Amino acid sequence: MLKKAKIAVLVSGGGTNLQALIDAQGTVINSGEIVLVISNNPNAFALERAQKAGIATAVIERKGNPDFEDQIIAKLDKEEIDVIVLAGFMCILSEKFTRHFENRILNVHPSLIPSFCGEGFYGLRVHEAALNYGVKVTGATVHFVNEIPDGGKIILQKAVEIKEGDTPEILQKRVMTEAEWIILPKATEMVCSEIIK
Ligand code: GAR
Repeated sequence: MLKKAKIAVLVSGGGTNLQALIDAQGTVINSGEIVLVISNNPNAFALERAQKAGIATAVIERKGNPDFEDQIIAKLDKEEIDVIVLAGFMCILSEKFTRHFENRILNVHPSLIPSFCGEGFYGLRVHEAALNYGVKVTGATVHFVNEIPDGGKIILQKAVEIKEGDTPEILQKRVMTEAEWIILPKATEMVCSEIIK
C-alpha cells in the first residue's frame, strides 16, 4: 500500500469543514489521513467532531501565549505532519510559520479571492461584505498559505449564486454546502497526492 500523507487540521470553531474532510476520507481523500486536529479555542465544537472520529486533538491557546506559533510548529514537527489544513482557523500565521511549511499549508476562504479577503475578512464578515457590495456571484477558494493573508497560490475555486433575500447566515450556509465542503477535500487530496509521489 502507498504511504499516506499525514494531515493536521487547524480549527477555531464549529468545524463543519473539518467534518467534510473527515467524511471524505476513503472516498475523495485517499492519499492522506487526518492524524491530528489542533485548536486555539478549547471550546471549539470541532474538537468534539475530531474526538468522535478517533482523531488525536491538541489545544494551544493564543491569548497571553508568546510561544503560540512555536508550540504549534513543535507539535506538527513531532507528529511528522506533511500537510496542514486551516479549516476555519481564525489566526493569521507569521512568515516564520508559513516558510517552515512552504507549499504544505492550505486554507479555505469563503469568497472568490481576490474579492472580500485579507485581514479582517473572516467568517460571516466575508458574506456581509459581499452582500453590502451587491455582487451577484460569490463562492469559496482553497489556496496555499504564505505570509500574505489570503495571498497564496490558488488551488481550487467554486462559484455560488447570490439570491434575492439572502442574509449573511443564509449565504454562508450556501457557500459552505455548494463550495467549501466540496473543494476543500478535493484540494487536500490534490496536495497530498503530489507530496507522496
Ligand atoms: C468557514 O466558512 C471558513 O471558510 C471560514 O470560517 C468558516 C468556518 O466554519 N474561514 C475564514 O473566514 C478564514 N478567513 P467551520 O468551523 O464550520 O468550518
